[in-house]
Amino acid sequence: MTEIFTVKTQAFLDQKPGTSGLRKKVKVFQPPHYLENFVQSIFDSVTIPPNSTLTLGGDGRFYNRVAIQVIIKMAVANGFTKVIVGQGGILSTPAASHIIRKYQTLGGIILSASHNPAGPDEDFGIKYNTANGGPAPEKITEAIFAKSKTISDYKVADFSDVNIDQLGETNFDGFSVQVIDPVADYADLMMSMFDFNAIKALFETGFSMKFDAMHAVTGPYAKEIFVNRLTAPENSLMNCEVSETFGGGHPDPNLTYAHELVEQLYQANAPDFGAASDGDGDRNMILGNHFFVTPSDSLAIIAANAKLIPAYQQGLAGVARSMPTSGAVDRVAKKLNIPCYETPTGWKFFGNLMDADKVTLCGEESFGTGSNHVREKDGLWAVLCWLNIIAAKKMSTEAIVKAHWAEYGRNVYSRHDYEAIPTEAASGVLQHIKAQFDSLPNQTFGKYTVKTCDDFSYTDPIDGSISTGQGIRILFACGSRIVFRLSGTGTEGATLRIYLEAYEPDVSKHHLDAQVALAEMIEIALKISQLKQRTGCDKPTVIT
Ligand code: G1P
Ligand code: ZN
Repeated sequence: MTEIFTVKTQAFLDQKPGTSGLRKKVKVFQPPHYLENFVQSIFDSVTIPPNSTLTLGGDGRFYNRVAIQVIIKMAVANGFTKVIVGQGGILSTPAASHIIRKYQTLGGIILSASHNPAGPDEDFGIKYNTANGGPAPEKITEAIFAKSKTISDYKVADFSDVNIDQLGETNFDGFSVQVIDPVADYADLMMSMFDFNAIKALFETGFSMKFDAMHAVTGPYAKEIFVNRLTAPENSLMNCEVSETFGGGHPDPNLTYAHELVEQLYQANAPDFGAASDGDGDRNMILGNHFFVTPSDSLAIIAANAKLIPAYQQGLAGVARSMPTSGAVDRVAKKLNIPCYETPTGWKFFGNLMDADKVTLCGEESFGTGSNHVREKDGLWAVLCWLNIIAAKKMSTEAIVKAHWAEYGRNVYSRHDYEAIPTEAASGVLQHIKAQFDSLPNQTFGKYTVKTCDDFSYTDPIDGSISTGQGIRILFACGSRIVFRLSGTGTEGATLRIYLEAYEPDVSKHHLDAQVALAEMIEIALKISQLKQRTGCDKPTVIT
């Protein structure tokens, strides 16, 4: 008999886990009992029926392998009879979501701190996904937090470490551990959704691509999908070897952190297409030759062209976007005569809509796009959408975007992040804006007149749950917007995000560079918020 030990412990969490699970420095996770406490709090917050299976994997960052062994032993001690784990402890976030769904496991534990840097002095993270493949809903995360405050012991089974590098199923006394190829099931899913022959033919014409895995989890996925299955040349890939420190980089696919890729796409003889994904593979950035596709536009363009992709040939049930995401997709939905939902920031809000078949595609301005094929955003899926659309339309990335603007108008968009500012200064900025809620309406700033302002709240149309305080919106009469919101995922101080959007129906009038086109809106945002005076920052840390 495998022995189960109960270990005495004490309450530990001082702070509610964020929308993406618990993210902390590795050094916070390392002391005795910390990881175990959180894992036990998860298992105590879900019902584990007999013969339950757990999906387990992570983005391969430092501490991933240690945590995998601990979780296998705790899963068994808590009554799981099977654990499916990706070889080497690897599963990208969308692949984990797919495995949960395909093998109908009770849920999954995903080890990742997404795009945050990795290494002994950097971040680690852990989150629980439920049987639909999506992040645990608020009800469960609340329970996990409550549990973590009162926990007094955890359970762990006594057996030696499992060889997670060897494929195959090992049977123990009353349970089994199955080590699976982390890529195969996901690659098969992609093959079933997209026109791989058309994309292959595109590569055969000499179409050139650069995909940057940023030393993170999508490397092996990209090799299998792009090189092995789509026959793209090997030099289409960069940074595709997974390292525990992500090469010392910050695997966030945006113009700042993916600069190595950006430089290649903006040099002479640049490739036709460029793309990158983040640490755990759920985010994406799309580039053309000397051209950047804003994530909000990317969502709108995928929606407008979805019928060119075999998986969506029958059309879309509806679309959804997070509140700060631009309204570009709303215009597509209107034309397609399908519903468009506006949800708070965070992927979990899309899950209910997808489970109820209300939406097929969804996305966030933060380089996250996805569909109901899984319940997470999906970086490689978005890249394949673009390749499929390019192959079908036989147009360049830039030409596709410009044709879209010509048809629908352009929602000029940018996000300014002020990272690691003192928490008090950041909340002071928001308080200062809220104090103006009564006086702002009808005020005019240059050519912009404020129509309304509010603190966004959302009632889930499926389960009726209400989420308040989701970001301050200042809506202008012309349809332009400024949104202020505090990040829920940063690990140092506070991160204040300002989202700027101006709608321009006649594209010929607009400056291509969003920062120039939005200059006046940026001034207004700074004036209303007194951000510089209150935080001492004179410019954003990241502009996208
Ligand atoms: C950020 C993004 C948000 C995304 C989340 C998880 O959250 O803005 O859209 O869902 O990461 O990837 P934030 O730091 O803004 O709370
Ligand atoms: Zn991520």
